[in-house]
Amino acid sequence: MEVISTKKRLAEVLDPLRKEGKTIGLVPTMGALHAGHASLVKRSVAENDVTVVSVFVNPTQFNDKKDLENYPRDVEADEKLLSALNATYAFIPSVEEMYPEKDTRVFSYPPIDTVMEGARRPGHFNGVCQIVSKLFYAVQPTRAYFGEKDFQQIAVVKAMVKDLGIPVQIVPCPIVRQSDGLALSSRNALLSDDERKLALNISQTLIKSLTYAKDHTVSETHDFVVNTLNAIDGLEVQYYEIVDGNSLQDVSSWDDSDYIVGCITVFCGHIPVRLIDNIKYKG
Ligand code: PAF
Repeated sequence: MEVISTKKRLAEVLDPLRKEGKTIGLVPTMGALHAGHASLVKRSVAENDVTVVSVFVNPTQFNDKKDLENYPRDVEADEKLLSALNATYAFIPSVEEMYPEKDTRVFSYPPIDTVMEGARRPGHFNGVCQIVSKLFYAVQPTRAYFGEKDFQQIAVVKAMVKDLGIPVQIVPCPIVRQSDGLALSSRNALLSDDERKLALNISQTLIKSLTYAKDHTVSETHDFVVNTLNAIDGLEVQYYEIVDGNSLQDVSSWDDSDYIVGCITVFCGHIPVRLIDNIKYKG
């Protein structure tokens, strides 16, 4: 595996491969890689001739400076893992390489990017679109792989790709959970052992809500999840929304859509770590 830090070198290695008709898979990441990322890389390696994994903590998608500073980083371990997974290239650029000038582009895809994360993290999805579009231009992938833990991110990226006419197939990949159910996240590295135990309640409550939903309304199921988690000291639900999986708009009845997903964000612990998860009720 070659580690590449510039777009120029990326073009040098990828242009000839593209001319030969090779397929290119891109796995965009912010590093601190875990088994969830590994599943995306494995899938890309299986489905493409060449796999590029980008590792870049993108400053423009952090609306909170402290969150950016605290974001876990371990480039050495990332490189080792990517090499063991047979990624072809690790693209690990500097901030200056990706943003030689301030990116003033504005991406706006309401209502998909204005609900849930979009409403709580102003500018977040704009930053995601800025970096993902730059990565798409630099790599020109055949396919790009995204984890469904960031459910809304996939919908926003799909809207952007359609808007800009970028010829890439977006491949959503299922959430990877630890054996006890905790959704894998780079942010889990910020949890103490006790906080990890607290965090486990999130997936467990979502799973219980699948059974609860069978004989309760959407609103009752929403309240079940929120009240169960808020009753636990050290957890605070920021939002729980039960939405149509395509439009991301709230549903009021289980009959409103064939594709219904519950998306949650919870603050966990005393220096709170913001964790997200989701569960599919239908579809
Ligand atoms: O999901 C992430 O890790 C990031 O939002 C992404 C897609 C790599 C863009 O920085």
